[in-house]
Amino acid sequence: MSEYKIALVGFGGVNRGLAQLIAERNAAWQAELGFSLKIVGVTDLFLGSIMNRDGLDAAQLVALPAAKGAFAELPGGTAEAFNETIIKQSGADIIAEATFTNPVDGEPAATFCRWALESGKHVVTTNKGPIALHGTELKALAERNGVAFEYEGSVMSGTPVIRMARQTLPGAVITGFEGILNGTSNYVLTRMEEGLSFADAVRQAQELGYAEADPTADVEGFDVRLKVVILANELLDARLQVSDVRCSGISGLSAADLEQARQAGARWKLIGSAQRQADGSVCASVEARRLDNGHPLAGISGATNAVSFNTELLGAVTVSGPGAGRIETAFALLSDIVAIHTAHAQR
Ligand code: HSE
Repeated sequence: MSEYKIALVGFGGVNRGLAQLIAERNAAWQAELGFSLKIVGVTDLFLGSIMNRDGLDAAQLVALPAAKGAFAELPGGTAEAFNETIIKQSGADIIAEATFTNPVDGEPAATFCRWALESGKHVVTTNKGPIALHGTELKALAERNGVAFEYEGSVMSGTPVIRMARQTLPGAVITGFEGILNGTSNYVLTRMEEGLSFADAVRQAQELGYAEADPTADVEGFDVRLKVVILANELLDARLQVSDVRCSGISGLSAADLEQARQAGARWKLIGSAQRQADGSVCASVEARRLDNGHPLAGISGATNAVSFNTELLGAVTVSGPGAGRIETAFALLSDIVAIHTAHAQR
């Protein structure tokens, strides 16, 4: 039986979701997974921070209002976000990093990951920025410090994609992939097919919590571009940078375009793809494509995501599932912790 001490960096929907799972399921995890989690610190730029090496009450954390400086209301809490202290000095074995994605330089999340890895702590994160922009550096840092750096939730939230492909497709030879990798844009296209305007559909996606803080990232393809870079580098050893990926979105599509496609037995989808070329290089793009209804991704509706891997031995292998959502993404953090536990148990 193991107990891992965990510090939560960022306490928006995802880490709050993880705290909720801990509050509700820790006892079951002891039996089912062979470990339990003890939250020893939480820090959030808006809410402040709190630390207790003997453990914080997960249910109490979940109940905290999302108000500026709210951690000051709890005994030992403060309205200031002592990020470095919580990461380095809370006694955590694992840092769960779930702050906002910064698509420009990956900060401050990349710094939070560096502090944790340099201090010999495992990192689990759902944040696309640090991985797409600094993945090679952070993986090397983890390796040098003998700790894990896991990021399953950065693509398709809790739906297994990265680890599934890494662990179950070696030898099948992945030559490329096509994916619906953004829930908001797929939700918007689906609702537009049902007659809603683009603006109203985006608003609904925001209300449902799928959209990024700035939904431009969702509808113009920037969010998918980060995910394409992560998948291509991870599964095709592509070494792509974000600027290598051609990118356009769905904002230019009209209701008439969608109707014309329907009449022709097709649907418009925002597709992120990467393909190995004959010379060994990898070419990647994000663009709206009109898919015939027989295409494996054409039937994916609403906020659901899917990725279809092209493989030499199996042809297309397609995985679909949720690509966003607080509990769904919190599950990705749990799956990363399970992977760390399994690797630890095998040593
Ligand atoms: N805004 C993203 C989406 C969240 O809609 O898919 C998950 O990365």
